[in-house]
Amino acid sequence: MTDQYAVIGSPIGHTKSPLIHGLFAQETQQDMSYTAIEGPVEPQDAFAGAVRAFGAAGGKGMNVTAPFKLKAFAMADACSERAELAGAANALRFENGQIVAENFDGLGLVRDIEVNLGLPMAGKRVLMLGAGGAVRGALLPFLAARPAELVIANRDVAKGQALVAQVGGRGPLLACGYGDLEAMGRFDLVVNATSASLTGDLPPVPPGVFSPEGTAYELAYGKRLTPFLRLARNAGVRGVADGVGMLVEQAAEAFAWWRGMRPQTRSVIDRLTVPLD
Ligand code: ATR
Repeated sequence: MTDQYAVIGSPIGHTKSPLIHGLFAQETQQDMSYTAIEGPVEPQDAFAGAVRAFGAAGGKGMNVTAPFKLKAFAMADACSERAELAGAANALRFENGQIVAENFDGLGLVRDIEVNLGLPMAGKRVLMLGAGGAVRGALLPFLAARPAELVIANRDVAKGQALVAQVGGRGPLLACGYGDLEAMGRFDLVVNATSASLTGDLPPVPPGVFSPEGTAYELAYGKRLTPFLRLARNAGVRGVADGVGMLVEQAAEAFAWWRGMRPQTRSVIDRLTVPLD
């Protein structure tokens, strides 16, 4: 029987996940279907009901996107450490009547940077802008990549400091405000993990953080040169990238978790890439 998977979110109209997983399934010859489900936002418990119904009907797994990642995590019976730290799930697996939660966003981001862009983070100075869900999901995979230093800058500094208190023991993690960055020198990699680009805003990052031979990475994708990437370009950075590779790599991680085999990602990334210029 064809195994059933789906992505659930609201609004779900623009999701690329069915296309991505469809291409993965074709390439690896998996007998599976992958659909998009518009999740119920109201009433409060309707989302959990929709997920349980999908599992009860024989569904094997789901991807979860905004605004349901926290609810998906909260309703799971078990979870990975990554999902626990993020407090959010972007992938679920139904097994033996249980729901297991994972979060592959950070892992997908690290894989895109290290494998696709060819930039190992070991020994590098890395700056991450933001301290919200996207950063919480990325912290453990980033620290596992052994940067020389991982700095998280956020408007609300206390939020960054709370993350340091939680996982600072795992590696060289530091939190600061944007004003402190002036004195911190250049970084090899600067990742914009704020939600500023979604509204066309620019986090107040001083251009001095960029190094010309370094890389600027925008988590948002398909938005061409965002104000953040433009700032990096103007500061002389040659390596600028958006999050299309991360999108495909997190999907590949989920696919491997569900199906026990890793699809190739290059052609899928190429197909979904919207040129920055
Ligand atoms: P996500 O899950 O996308 O990370 P979130 O948890 O709501 O969303 O977090 C949004 C992040 O973007 C926060 O770090 C927020 O900063 P504050 O915690 O200081 O509010 C950051 N952010 C949003 N808009 C921003 C802007 N215009 N400039 C700088 N940071 C911004």
